[in-house]
Amino acid sequence: MTDNNHDIEQPDERVPRRVIGTPSPAAGTSLLGTDEQSAAGVSDVPGVTLKDEQTARKGERIAALCFTVTLIAGIAFIVSYVVFQVGDLETTRTSTLALGGTLTLALLAMAAGMVVWVRLVMPKYNLVQERHAMASDSGTRETVAETFLQGANESGFVKRPLLRRTLLLAAAPLGLAPLVLLRDLGPSYSNFPEKLRHTVWGEKTKDGKNRRLVVEGTGAPIRAADFNSPGGILSVVPEGYEHDLNALAKATLILIKFRPEEIKSGTNLNWTHDGIVAYSKICTHVGCPAALYEQTTHHILCPCHQSTFDAADGAKVVFGPAARPLPQLPIAVDNEGYLVATADFSVPPGPSFWERGDAEAEVRKNGGHA
Ligand code: FES
Repeated sequence: MTDNNHDIEQPDERVPRRVIGTPSPAAGTSLLGTDEQSAAGVSDVPGVTLKDEQTARKGERIAALCFTVTLIAGIAFIVSYVVFQVGDLETTRTSTLALGGTLTLALLAMAAGMVVWVRLVMPKYNLVQERHAMASDSGTRETVAETFLQGANESGFVKRPLLRRTLLLAAAPLGLAPLVLLRDLGPSYSNFPEKLRHTVWGEKTKDGKNRRLVVEGTGAPIRAADFNSPGGILSVVPEGYEHDLNALAKATLILIKFRPEEIKSGTNLNWTHDGIVAYSKICTHVGCPAALYEQTTHHILCPCHQSTFDAADGAKVVFGPAARPLPQLPIAVDNEGYLVATADFSVPPGPSFWERGDAEAEVRKNGGHA
């Protein structure tokens, strides 16, 4: 090759070179020659070194093995996506490892198969290209077109069905992978309104007891007698779900202690305990955590768009774009004096969704009870 860049591989001078632009075999003539020549690894065309059939067969088997590995790893990718559900840090790590590992293996095996195919199956060319004007002349274009067609034949894609089929089969799961990822767009329409209506506060513990409220971060249960300073506020999560991000997205609370005379009619007193009230921490506008509390006015402020809720009056909206109060959670104490949830929220916590009106109408019909 007439190039001063020494990093570029120089042609093997012992091998006859074929100059692009010199007369080529008639269109449609395979550079592989006759079947006998092909089997013997001999070509009449200068610059073309055929692989002998034994080497080509070996390459075919290795490449097919690689494509089979791609097939298995591609299927394993899809299975991993279904099997390893994401819930907390540990399951997220497992899922990421499984998805990353299988996809990496599939792509590496596919690449290895391609390399083996080119190196051991396809003919070796030793080409010389003279420097010329950038625009190709018509002869060169014809040659390129012929070479492309010849290359398609010589690649063995038509002649070697094992390679062709394993490659196509191996590519199928990779093609489907983006489709299964569509699942991450959200839950299926048919059951997501139902999921949004319920939180883990409505579930009993394994031994059939009401679920305790625990402090976010430490996981410590809260004894009502210890939470006794009016104006106090705590961020609270359900015991047993401290690290379940899906559950916490709907179930995180703020707990506020009032003097009895401070509580107004909007607050359901049956759902409080000794001046302690629990509200959803998920803003009913678009779901930011609303936990800035102004003790003197009893206002809960959402930092995202400044929705303001009156905590003493059922967390009604007093300012901002939120359309609904923060839902109140019914609480009581268990026989050890720890705060527990006695039922789920009566209305879905968090932002609005299409079917939410049905749930609220139901609650109004039942006089405010779920
Ligand atoms: S998310 Fe709270 S005001 Fe917008």
